[in-house]
Amino acid sequence: MNIKFNNKVVQITGAGSGFGRLAALEFSKLGARLVLSDVNEAGLDETMKQLGDGGDRTLALLCDVSKEDQVEKMTKAGIAHFGSLDIAINNAGVAHNMARMAEASLKEFDFVMAVNVRGVFLSMQQELRQMNKQGHGVILNVASVAGLIGAPLAGAYTASKHAVIGLTKAAALEYARKNIRINAICPAFCYTPMVDQLIGGEGGRKREQDMAHVIPMGRLGSAEEIVNGMIWLCSDQNSFTTGQALAFDGGLTTA
Ligand SMILES: NC(=O)c1ccc[n+]([C@@H]2O[C@H](COP(=O)([O-])OP(=O)(O)OC[C@H]3O[C@@H](n4cnc5c(N)ncnc54)[C@H](O)[C@@H]3O)[C@@H](O)[C@H]2O)c1
Repeated sequence: MNIKFNNKVVQITGAGSGFGRLAALEFSKLGARLVLSDVNEAGLDETMKQLGDGGDRTLALLCDVSKEDQVEKMTKAGIAHFGSLDIAINNAGVAHNMARMAEASLKEFDFVMAVNVRGVFLSMQQELRQMNKQGHGVILNVASVAGLIGAPLAGAYTASKHAVIGLTKAAALEYARKNIRINAICPAFCYTPMVDQLIGGEGGRKREQDMAHVIPMGRLGSAEEIVNGMIWLCSDQNSFTTGQALAFDGGLTTA
């Protein structure tokens, strides 16, 4: 399958690290023009550095996805710069300290909901207004296997990713006849800075082994495996799939 995104405008949130950065690099190699954003300026600068010449076809903007005015400003700036918005990957997300529900922090719950749920909602609102106007578009929300099954000690994260899938399904039905496809990707544990934090430090090796143990394939995933999935899900080759929450999880949600 020869997938190309020549001149397609691809917007990626959380592009300063992990999946978002790698997606930026890979979509750029496939010819896309990029609108990249992150709340972390240093991370975004590093992505721009790694893009090399691809940076000439890239607009990079600071944006906190939980803030309506910033999401509106970022999306409108991309549209003004490139003239359209073909593909949007709503990837920015945060995890939280592991805790059983009775001991979990309300502050962390509110923060995770603000970034992971409100952030996707606000992003989709802006994206859909433009895509509806131009008559086409593809949205890919980055959920998690924690959106499909329960993740113990991660109640807020689990709830937030279930909500991302809910938003994906509702919007997919609303826009199915408008030439706009909306799906979610649901990775299991993969090696990105988010997971590196969990498996670093004291007891980290044991936690990594525990994570690998629950995955039928017996290992964590790589960021490349997820980004390859993103590329196919966003491509024209995937033209009859909408409203799906696709697991990339080494068999975890099948067990
Ligand atoms: N790594 C995994 O195993 C895994 C598994 C399932 C789902 N995910 C999801 O994948 C997405 C990307 O995670 P990652 O693993 O690449 O993590 P990461 O921490 O490497 O990257 C997340 C990026 O999002 C940015 N971000 C955080 N809050 C933001 C905000 N308010 N506004 C804008 N940007 C913000 C961060 O600065 C960072 O650059 C997240 O939604 C995460 O929940 C990750």
